[in-house]
Amino acid sequence: MYILGIETSCDETSAAILENKKIISNIIYSQIEKHRIFGGVVPEIAAREHLDKLQFVVDESLKKANLSLNDIDVISATYGPGLAGSLIVGLSYAKSLAFALNKKFIGVNHLEAHLLSPFLEYDNIKFPFIGLVVSGGHTNLYLAQEFGKYKLIGSTRDDAAGEAFDKVAKMLNLPYPGGPSISNEAIKGDAKKIVFPQAYMKDESFDFSFSGIKTSVLYFLQKNKVKIKNGEITVSDIAAAFQKATIRAIVNKIRRIYKKYRIKNIAITGGVAANSYLKEEIKRLAEERNLNVFIPSPILCTDNGAMIAYAGYEYAKHNKYSELDLDIIPDLKL
Ligand code: KG4
Ligand code: ZN
Repeated sequence: MYILGIETSCDETSAAILENKKIISNIIYSQIEKHRIFGGVVPEIAAREHLDKLQFVVDESLKKANLSLNDIDVISATYGPGLAGSLIVGLSYAKSLAFALNKKFIGVNHLEAHLLSPFLEYDNIKFPFIGLVVSGGHTNLYLAQEFGKYKLIGSTRDDAAGEAFDKVAKMLNLPYPGGPSISNEAIKGDAKKIVFPQAYMKDESFDFSFSGIKTSVLYFLQKNKVKIKNGEITVSDIAAAFQKATIRAIVNKIRRIYKKYRIKNIAITGGVAANSYLKEEIKRLAEERNLNVFIPSPILCTDNGAMIAYAGYEYAKHNKYSELDLDIIPDLKL
């Protein structure tokens, strides 16, 4: 079975082709350069860029796979959550293709696609697993019992983790997106110079909160203008301390989840899962508790068509197809 996956929920225009669960092409056009001068994604520009680039991206995915549209069995596309204008472009395109070519069509929940993305690379990941989707828009913890059966056991009460990276990067005058730029800056810094409070929730829930730490960085910058100016404290030090506090909050939550659920398979997905400090810290926890941790390669952590095609593959295997009147749902939940 050949599955075409189309992703246009935010600022990546992507199309991928899988042969069953094997990736044969995964073309990603990142719009980052178009949004960088504005310090974040501009929805109107994102939608126009998708419109402009999608055809090219799909053509490239076919070319790389050495296939034509007629060879494709199933067309899948993200229908939410995401930016309305961006979602409309990919979903309408996919539905039109499916209609014109008389192919099966599957609308995919972007969060489910992230959650299942480790299956693309790991043969040994099995249900049940604890899945953390940690991106620019979400910080959701799931107990994934089987395909299609996911229990949300925690989420953020304010900012998503990636959003906190993006906002703090802005305060530090580092380029968008903030995740990679903070992570690169942190390598040069000394995290021990500053201690930001970790984002603990007072109650025993598995929810996250990242707005407190963001405010701490803001106050720190205001209070330490002189020290920063004379180089006693550098932007790298602040980036390192912020990254440490944020990532440790995530890792500590996973430690607590394991204590409660005793599930050894842990999947961490979404843009922030590309963070190398997160990988180091998780590796330590995995060794300490003998856990099996599954984190996709960085290219499959951030938004991509391959994960949309993989979710499509699973739905097709279960014979669950979508109707062609499926509409976008910008605030779709999982
Ligand atoms: O999954 P994704 O591509 O898009 C959403 O669905 O949101 O995630 C993008 C987010 C951005 O906030 C970005 O700053 C963050 O992931 N990110 C990172 C890293 N790479 C991307 N955060 C921390 N460390 C990274 N290396
Ligand atoms: Zn995403």
